[in-house]
Amino acid sequence: EKGGYDYFMLKEIAEQPKAVADTLLGRIDANGSLSLDEIRIPVSVLREVDKVVIVACGTAYHAGMIAKYAIEHWTRIPCETELASEFRYRDPILDSRTLVVAISQSGETMDTLMALRHAREQGAKVLAICNTNGSTIPRESDAVLYTHAGPEVAVASTKAFLTQLVACYLVALYLGQVRGTKWGDEIQAVIRELSEIGTQVDEVLETMEPVRELARSLAEKNTVLFLGRHVGFPVALEGALKLKELAYMHAEGFAAGELKHGPIALIEDDLPVVVVVPSPRGRSVLHDKIVSNIQEIRARGARTIVIAERGDTAVAPYADHLIEIPATPTLLQPLVATVPLQVFACELATARGNEVDQPRNLAKSVTVE
Ligand code: BG6
Repeated sequence: EKGGYDYFMLKEIAEQPKAVADTLLGRIDANGSLSLDEIRIPVSVLREVDKVVIVACGTAYHAGMIAKYAIEHWTRIPCETELASEFRYRDPILDSRTLVVAISQSGETMDTLMALRHAREQGAKVLAICNTNGSTIPRESDAVLYTHAGPEVAVASTKAFLTQLVACYLVALYLGQVRGTKWGDEIQAVIRELSEIGTQVDEVLETMEPVRELARSLAEKNTVLFLGRHVGFPVALEGALKLKELAYMHAEGFAAGELKHGPIALIEDDLPVVVVVPSPRGRSVLHDKIVSNIQEIRARGARTIVIAERGDTAVAPYADHLIEIPATPTLLQPLVATVPLQVFACELATARGNEVDQPRNLAKSVTVE
């Protein structure tokens, strides 16, 4: 049932191109527009939404953090992403014009369920992004957009995460489409680029041997840090979470701009630091800033592991290890940048003799608050 792989996680990592393609299937029409009538929230209601609040836990929360950048950029609707376990306890401001998006692979996570119940009591509309048909979270929501990742068995989420991202982009682009924004042309272009993403994830998967080798060489380390900016920041958090879950290592993700406000004090000789670099073509200011961050940490002895777009010659000289990923629009980069981090964590866990599919103390679905 593991399809020839040693672990479900390896199988699920390999299934990502298909999972991504399946989640797009039937949702882009022949004219290249999105058709998401299945959401069954009337367009008239979506046009009136004045705030989006995303609630989720763990890996799904990282998908929600990335969604915030996409939703605010393409729709200009203010969006906040919050840990489901924190949400209802701070008495959040919600009304009938608030769209709450609850993201959950299992559809059974109690923290997320309690957050959406609270949101509905306050009159907000709840859209679930979920991978498990007929589970509790979509049943209790006003609407659902299913991810089509197929069953995910490994506790550490991989293909579900990528499909959650796809679903989040679809929601962001659809909101932009039905409301009309000045980004109309960009939205059309991104929809076209999304259709290519499965192929690009496949390309990443084919170039992972050096990443596995690197991971094995770091098996004796105690700490790995992760840095990113913009959508690369949640990717850094996800890379760190994977390493904690699987390798039981001290791993932390930081926004690269925060380095100088504290974390740079952690840098010491030969400390591995993974840096997610945005495309030099898109928002080039982001790229330039992160290149100087890499120089700063390298000058202090860090071993830099750089994930960058293929052909990024500006960053290459500062990379002790360079992991190249295909070119994508800035906002879509997490779909390709996360994959090496999954492989990295899985290989490190194996090298450390850990149980990959069933990490200690964790459960696939947590049905207590
Ligand atoms: C956890 C899992 O506790 O729940 C994580 O170990 C997962 O992998 C999180 O991201 C949220 O789960 P779900 O099913 O709500 O997406």
